[in-house]
Amino acid sequence: MRRPLIAGNWKMNATRKQASELLQNIKVRTSYADPVEWVVFPPFVYLELTERELAYSPVKWGAQNASPFGHGAYTGEVSLHMLHDFGCQYVILGHSERRQLFREHDHEIADKVSAAVSMGMTPIVCVGESYENYQQGATDTTVRSQIERIHQRLQDNYVFNHLAFAYEPVWAIGTGLSASADHAQHVHKLIRHCISELSDTEVAETVRIVYGGSVKPDNAYQLLAKPDVDGCLVGGASLDADKFIRIGKCGFQQMENTAVTD
Ligand code: PGA
Repeated sequence: MRRPLIAGNWKMNATRKQASELLQNIKVRTSYADPVEWVVFPPFVYLELTERELAYSPVKWGAQNASPFGHGAYTGEVSLHMLHDFGCQYVILGHSERRQLFREHDHEIADKVSAAVSMGMTPIVCVGESYENYQQGATDTTVRSQIERIHQRLQDNYVFNHLAFAYEPVWAIGTGLSASADHAQHVHKLIRHCISELSDTEVAETVRIVYGGSVKPDNAYQLLAKPDVDGCLVGGASLDADKFIRIGKCGFQQMENTAVTD
């Protein structure tokens, strides 16, 4: 059974005070007994604060990006070693905003993925089609080719044992237009199939594939009910502790098949 991953991508949001309050609110409403795994992704500058606020809490944290380089003259970059030093267990790589706004390509993303895995961190590798691809019915080919290009560049299949994928249709991010649960299930299944071809069936069965793109408390339940949707990567709604926790509780329901109690 794959444990649902409920991840909050804060992007470039929150003041120091807001970050601190958000972390405290999440901390008091989560427990080690929760059937889902909680992870937050604050901006780099709040990682020290996050490490402090989330001490003795089941909530893990990670970074929204990382440099593929070890150390040295790379002005403005943050290395995986530094992130590891601040307790990051996860790192989001290849988010569509990084692909579109900062021209990141699959080969660069693959280099970051390899480096993160060798640091013992778990990358959440984002893939997803643009609105144009979606309209042209090119979702499957786009997603498949992103995974194949990343795979081609990786040194070995071993890396696939240590990552998670996020399917994030670009047209659904920050737009309020979530993909339907059926569309998400279709693409998640395709990703799993693709991994089984490139790696092996066992890896494909254990890898977690989370959905991202306008996830809210009112659509999370249907998404998480799908057999290949192993969690959510939540953007906007993760800045509100109440919404973030309610999304996670939809995962509890799926795991325990019990009514949600607030
Ligand atoms: P959203 O963002 O939930 O605000 O659509 C998701 C993401 O970009 O990871």
